[in-house]
Amino acid sequence: MENEEIVAALKDIFFHQRVLVTGGCGFIGSAVVRALYRHTPADIAILDKLTYSADIEALEEAYGVPRVQLHTFDLLEQSAVEELIATFCPTLILHLAAETHVDRSIDDPLQFVTSNITGTAVLLEAVRKYWRSLTHADQAQFRFVQISTDEVYGSIGEHEHFEVSSPYQPNSPYAASKAAADHLVRAWWKTYGIPVIFTHSCNNYGPYQYPEKLIPLMLWKGMQGEDFPVYGNGLQSREWVYVEDHAAALLLIGNRGTVGSVYHITSGEEIRNIDLVNELANELEKALQEMSPNRVIAKRTSKVVHVEDRPGHDIRYAMSGKPLHDALGWQKEISWKEGLARTVRWYLAHPSFFAKKRSQGYKGNRLGCQITN
Ligand SMILES: NC(=O)c1ccc[n+]([C@@H]2O[C@H](COP(=O)([O-])OP(=O)(O)OC[C@H]3O[C@@H](n4cnc5c(N)ncnc54)[C@H](O)[C@@H]3O)[C@@H](O)[C@H]2O)c1
Repeated sequence: MENEEIVAALKDIFFHQRVLVTGGCGFIGSAVVRALYRHTPADIAILDKLTYSADIEALEEAYGVPRVQLHTFDLLEQSAVEELIATFCPTLILHLAAETHVDRSIDDPLQFVTSNITGTAVLLEAVRKYWRSLTHADQAQFRFVQISTDEVYGSIGEHEHFEVSSPYQPNSPYAASKAAADHLVRAWWKTYGIPVIFTHSCNNYGPYQYPEKLIPLMLWKGMQGEDFPVYGNGLQSREWVYVEDHAAALLLIGNRGTVGSVYHITSGEEIRNIDLVNELANELEKALQEMSPNRVIAKRTSKVVHVEDRPGHDIRYAMSGKPLHDALGWQKEISWKEGLARTVRWYLAHPSFFAKKRSQGYKGNRLGCQITN
């Protein structure tokens, strides 16, 4: 089944009435909220601390409407988390809230331990109390989806793929904090019986991504005529999925996924960083030409420059997406080529997005390479 069909069918078959999205003002969380709002009849509650990477405008038409509640507090605020869950009575929780930038985790690992590990533990405890209070029928319908990353598996050699049974070997403080959170979720399933599902996604891209991440950072630089800073030799290889495809997968998994299962959300389209940056530079130039067809655009002056590599930089991630495809029929709808074209044009059409981040203090500076012992 194509994702368009999946999404069209969701309106009729989506059985969850109340969905709690943690991190719902972040890059992926907001895409999930938009998809839930547009394609399902569910009531939606967002729990988000509104860190630097959150953006309420990303909720688009789902912001400020009665069906969507926004609760702006930290996962660590135990009584607030408990009260929200007890009063909203979610039938599905999609847990996306986290600190997410690897470079920041190198500079400030404890922030990642606090938000991603302790934050998940607080949430799980609130869920445990709530779930115990439900009838057997409601307990059976409830789902907690832990949104994790391919980075928990560490780096993999050429021609290999991580399977859902692959061991965890996280290499960055970010990946380790996500791995620890996954283990907590598993323990709350095995010990207390909470019906949980795990997802691991490859790299996401698309609208509203904070400009510290590779694709918007390169666009930010390129749109200002600055050089494209590539970490190390740029031969690191990643799979990339368009954020709306990820959101569709999460809705499907929340609705039809099997308790205790692990699903890999991957496009199968693997690109080396250096190739990605070159493709992006070409697409940016093409899009700028299209925007001003009567003007001769000066040849692009931005060039790739190789900068100091990230400490502990994983060389390659690649996952097998077979379980999700075979069990639930999901496959990406938006190819890398189309997604890149859409993404470049979205950022060009929304210059206020970067301007806002700049006015909030982000300057595009290098993070995560000042290791002090
Ligand atoms: N972006 C990717 O490529 C990718 C890939 C795989 C998995 N993931 C996972 O998906 C999830 C979302 O990632 P993203 O790229 O949207 O991140 P993001 O940084 O854009 O958004 C994270 C959101 O979580 C909120 N948040 C952070 N700490 C919080 C706390 N303690 N309490 C409440 N809210 C808090 C932030 O305010 C923000 O809105 C994360 O769990 C991440 O590990 C992301």
